[in-house]
Amino acid sequence: MRSPAQPNAVSDNAFMPGFRSLERELHEYSLPVEGSIPAWLSGTLLRNGPGKFEGGDARLRHWFDGLAMIRKYEFADGEVQYSNRFLRSEAYADAMAGQPTGQFATDRSGVGKLLGWLKRLGPPEPTDNANVHVARLDGEYVAQTEVPRWVQFNEDLDDSGPFAFEDDLDMDMITAHLVADPDGGHVGHGLSFGRTHEYVFFEIPDESRHRKEIASIPTDSPAYIHSIGVSESRLVLVETPLRINILRALSPFTEGFFELLDWEDDADTRFVVIDRESGETVLDQTVDPFFTFHTINAYDDGEETVLDLVAFDDATIVDALSLETLATDGFDAAPPGRFVRFRLGPDNISRRRLYDGGLELPTVRTDRQTKPYRYVYAQATDREGANGLVKIDTERETATEFWQRDLYVEEPWMVPRPDGDAADDGVVLAPALDVDTERSVLVVLDAATLAELARAPVPHHNPFGFHGRFFPE
Ligand SMILES: [Fe+2]
Repeated sequence: MRSPAQPNAVSDNAFMPGFRSLERELHEYSLPVEGSIPAWLSGTLLRNGPGKFEGGDARLRHWFDGLAMIRKYEFADGEVQYSNRFLRSEAYADAMAGQPTGQFATDRSGVGKLLGWLKRLGPPEPTDNANVHVARLDGEYVAQTEVPRWVQFNEDLDDSGPFAFEDDLDMDMITAHLVADPDGGHVGHGLSFGRTHEYVFFEIPDESRHRKEIASIPTDSPAYIHSIGVSESRLVLVETPLRINILRALSPFTEGFFELLDWEDDADTRFVVIDRESGETVLDQTVDPFFTFHTINAYDDGEETVLDLVAFDDATIVDALSLETLATDGFDAAPPGRFVRFRLGPDNISRRRLYDGGLELPTVRTDRQTKPYRYVYAQATDREGANGLVKIDTERETATEFWQRDLYVEEPWMVPRPDGDAADDGVVLAPALDVDTERSVLVVLDAATLAELARAPVPHHNPFGFHGRFFPE
């Protein structure tokens, strides 16, 4: 998975403030508002992502390695208050001491904490740099990463320590993408390494720390699986050819998880559809290979399962997001993700592209997840000198776009207007980085038209974040 660096490559790296460390932390800072935020918007957008890319004089290697920083945008009465704070994790303390450890691609500790257990055959001690996503579980805000060391925090973004499940499910990796089921609970998956490796699928009931296993599927060659599809009655595992070479973890030259990933040229991509109630596999089929980080949504349509996702031809996107490649090539090396709808039926699998442009970080309004739905909001990734925002109508297969040169939009989040009828009645919230002024802004758009309603400038730049959620009042 390592590609040679191209030190002489020339590119437009105007967006690089998005990969520059931020030291400043603010607490309940009132953002100025240009335009008008609807007074009905009440609640908190919490976002997770990297804040810092160095430990001492060691530069971290991958965007995915940056030290977790939570951003909070709290809305009430047309105003917005902003806070940002690093998680005070062990990984943060290690990095501050000049020894970044146990990251996705960077490990200067000699023996990766993530993988140390393989070498010592002792208990796992993976990183607690929980920089990927947030959820609300058992009454706590939880910062999540892809190994089972999540960190809970309070409304002031103070850490209150590790978030631990109270069950016997043994997983070495766990998704940061829990699907919040509008009918209750969260659904997720993980991976357990052992004599036989297993994908594990589970539900977390509301007000509980006890995961209930739905199914487990053994595998000889576990794939890196960032998210799964969840419909009302089924789960979909998308096993791509990007495999985790666990034996390589034993090599003294392996510096992190990143180096364990291999694209298997002769492998296909496999769908496994599982009945949520019985745990039984109802479909197990391969299709021509593709890679994906993000499923968009899934729903039942009779015997068919409709699965929407962002597909890449292969996994070159993973290398393209290393800080080294970004520094030389910018986003030019990043191939576009495509919106693909699969219909997974007992006799046939069909595949259809619903949008021609490149996209990533897709979101769907929370009450339509797992169900038939109409609109997707996502980053439009193929703009020159910008990241745009796109709204895709999956029924009409049309798109509405918002973009502005120098403005790099992060993951958008649609908040429905209370008592609104239309599926796109509401606002879209999107943090963005203006690389011209090197300041971040929160953009508020009309969810129907993508017309700009307001923007609230943040008094510093924010490195590009990953994922977040809106928690209504
Ligand atoms: Fe993700």
